[in-house]
Amino acid sequence: MEGFQWSRPVSLVLYAVFFLLSWAAVSETNIAEYDEHWEQRRLQARALAEATYHPDPIAVTNSFNHAVHRAMKEEEEDTSTRRQMLGKHKKFAGPCLATNPIDRCWRCRNDWATDRMRMAQCAQGFGRNTTGGLGGKIYIVTDGSDDDVLEPKPGTLRWGVIQKEPLWIIFARSMLIKLKEELMVQSDKTIDGRGAQVRVADGCQITVQYVHNVIIANIHVNDLMVGKGGRIRDSTEHAGFRTQSDGDGVSIFGATKVWVDHLSLANCQDGLVDVIAEATGVTISNCHLTNHNDVMLFGSSDSNQKDEIMQVTVAFNHFGRGLVQRMPRCRWGFFHVVNNDYTHWLMYAIGGSKNPTIISHGNRYIAPPNMAAKQVTKHLGTEESEWNNWVWHSQEDLLMNGAVFNQTGGENQKKLDSRDLVKPKAGSYVTRLTRYAGSMPCRAGKPC
Ligand SMILES: *[C@@H]1O[C@H](CO)[C@@H](O)[C@H](O)[C@H]1NC(C)=O
Ligand SMILES: *[C@@H]1O[C@H](CO)[C@@H](O)[C@H](O)[C@H]1NC(C)=O
Repeated sequence: MEGFQWSRPVSLVLYAVFFLLSWAAVSETNIAEYDEHWEQRRLQARALAEATYHPDPIAVTNSFNHAVHRAMKEEEEDTSTRRQMLGKHKKFAGPCLATNPIDRCWRCRNDWATDRMRMAQCAQGFGRNTTGGLGGKIYIVTDGSDDDVLEPKPGTLRWGVIQKEPLWIIFARSMLIKLKEELMVQSDKTIDGRGAQVRVADGCQITVQYVHNVIIANIHVNDLMVGKGGRIRDSTEHAGFRTQSDGDGVSIFGATKVWVDHLSLANCQDGLVDVIAEATGVTISNCHLTNHNDVMLFGSSDSNQKDEIMQVTVAFNHFGRGLVQRMPRCRWGFFHVVNNDYTHWLMYAIGGSKNPTIISHGNRYIAPPNMAAKQVTKHLGTEESEWNNWVWHSQEDLLMNGAVFNQTGGENQKKLDSRDLVKPKAGSYVTRLTRYAGSMPCRAGKPC
């Protein structure tokens, strides 16, 4: 392990310089040993964030909504064809319904297990260009243990995610993985739990920090806790000291092009999915979230204006039982919250501070019985005279049980109104669009 220690005095000086220069930027990075390696990764990540940032986010919301219309139309045509076939062949198996464009791309095909990388073309929204381990080898996790976070064993999930090359990571069988410390995921990876019941639970979080192009799909993530930190390997060529991890489900930290799809997330110590520190090009789709207080945090600092680069799509998720608030809680960036089903919240659904743009399209919001919690939205941290100008826009949302979406925008809203907007698919379709949210039991050779 000598290669990873700071031994020479010059290194100590360098270390001190980097540390002081970068103090503000790294104080919440969980990096205890901020060396040249991390400084390089942070700079690279920022450059990639600038390259990934979409100058016309409304165009991205338009093409998203367009894809939903197209998918639903196709599905309706398929269904009517099936009905005709059903008349002729009585033995015809039950239909595989995939109403949303992400699922339609792969889910109803018999060959999904032999053509897994097809999924790399299925993302939509700001994370649309995420291809994960496309073009790399398939790596099969055969060992659910996580005993050595410094020299992980081949066959474990940790061994796969720290590799430098692109990898498409799949699982030999169903397994429970208790992460001993946070799992440091490298660039160009897909964690693909289709075909097995994979549960990352009762341990530490999945960390996607200063990397790009990561897909995490079809696993359960629950009951994760703060990790004590220590020396952890984050790539084949680097290991370093980490402070305590937060106890999120998935932490997306300064990363670009990240797609999280069909996760079942519940009961973690901090957030279920947090997107912070100038992360951008992110899509969170088809997830089922339950039993949690602070569900999703997008931007963690009122003082980091660089978070304006954040662009996130939240689509086809089911925010379900036992949720309290922050679905999501936003700062600075641009957030497309579209065709989600909100069936439970105790305090509010969507909140934010520092002038985030929130485009709420075709969601279903079912307010709780509590008369004091009917507001979907919560504008935080400042006076009404100021937040009145934040663009929080609601279109085609289905507001039920007395739910109220407090739209704001003032003069800023006019810029939005002057655009040609593709009308979102209405909130009344959301039950169909989110029916298969969460981790699904898929069997090879059959539609999933
Ligand atoms: C994805 O990549 C294409 C081709 O480079 C680009 O035109 C498009 O804007 C990108 N989409 C997003 C959402 O970044
Ligand atoms: C939005 O919030 C403000 C301040 O709480 C309130 O005065 C206003 O009536 C709200 N609008 C709606 C539509 O609830």
